[in-house]
Amino acid sequence: MTYFRNNIERMEGYTPGEQPEDPAIIKLNTNENPYSPSPKVMEMVASITPDQLRRYPDPLGNQFRDAAAKVFDVTRDHIICGNGMDDILNMSVRAFSGPDAALVYPKPTYTLYAVLANIQASVVREVPFPPDYSLPLGELVAARGRVTYLANPNSPTGTFVPYRQVAELADKLAGVLCVDEAYVDFAREHCMELAKIRPNVLVMRTMSKGYSLAGLRFGFAVGHPDLIEGLMKVKDSYNVDAIGTAAATAALVDQDYYEQTRKKVIAERDRLAAALEKLGLPCLPSESNFLLARAKKPSAAQLYESLKDRRILVRYFDSPGVSDTLRITVGTHEQNNALINALTELTSG
Ligand SMILES: Cc1ncc(COP(=O)(O)O)c(C=O)c1O
Repeated sequence: MTYFRNNIERMEGYTPGEQPEDPAIIKLNTNENPYSPSPKVMEMVASITPDQLRRYPDPLGNQFRDAAAKVFDVTRDHIICGNGMDDILNMSVRAFSGPDAALVYPKPTYTLYAVLANIQASVVREVPFPPDYSLPLGELVAARGRVTYLANPNSPTGTFVPYRQVAELADKLAGVLCVDEAYVDFAREHCMELAKIRPNVLVMRTMSKGYSLAGLRFGFAVGHPDLIEGLMKVKDSYNVDAIGTAAATAALVDQDYYEQTRKKVIAERDRLAAALEKLGLPCLPSESNFLLARAKKPSAAQLYESLKDRRILVRYFDSPGVSDTLRITVGTHEQNNALINALTELTSG
């Protein structure tokens, strides 16, 4: 006897990356930005008034929508805010997929898509990426999803599909294309333009990575006003709070700070990738703030444990196709040096 619906009883929940309590641990496991958020964010948080907390917040986060409309050259009607991008993903899965409406994505990818789809009892069609992680365009179109998700850059691979190919996919799909751009702050280009010119494209962003606000929980999607209006019906009534909206707005407006930190992360990523390659841990070409490094001897699982013993935490997925890899978040210069030194010892001899 169970109190749960059948699909909930059968499904596995999402497994978030470990959040260790010890602040001395070098934490390279959940793709956070190693640099602090903009000082403007802290000023904004310090200026929050008791009244802002006493009252309900603006249910639409219009302060943020207006700031984002300026940055991305759209109107506020093109934008919906969420409690992290996970909230936006949840809304879209609920709005577009179900037992009679298939949800499609190339695999391996962000594992939350499958979890959200299972809650919804949605039909799920997974399309394997080819070995070079290029876009399986024909197969994705043939899967005929009511909604298709493309994480670009992808996780856990860090690989990137160029704009022109995503545009072609959007043209050929009959359903909605959700481009998950959680890591796009570290990529060479983005697909925001598609959200403006195609009626079936939602571009989803987060403030967690490029803006160093993973603890705040703020994300948003940009798309045709008809798509945004539909998503509004599905969202929780007050899905973004007063502090989050004010702080995320301050971060977005400070584009100079954003540009500086994202360039530092990109430079460190490329340095780290070259160092890992030299150590016999080749990485897939990454356009994100993490690297997927392949390990032979010691194995990825062994390296994960040995690094953990040295208080360096990376991510290991014991799942098909990636079980011989480590996903390593790009840290600060000093953190990356500590990782390189530890791996130099662990891979020698
Ligand atoms: C591919 C991808 N999409 C979305 C998210 C969710 O981001 P948020 O922190 O805004 O919920 C993540 C988080 O790591 C991610 O890896």
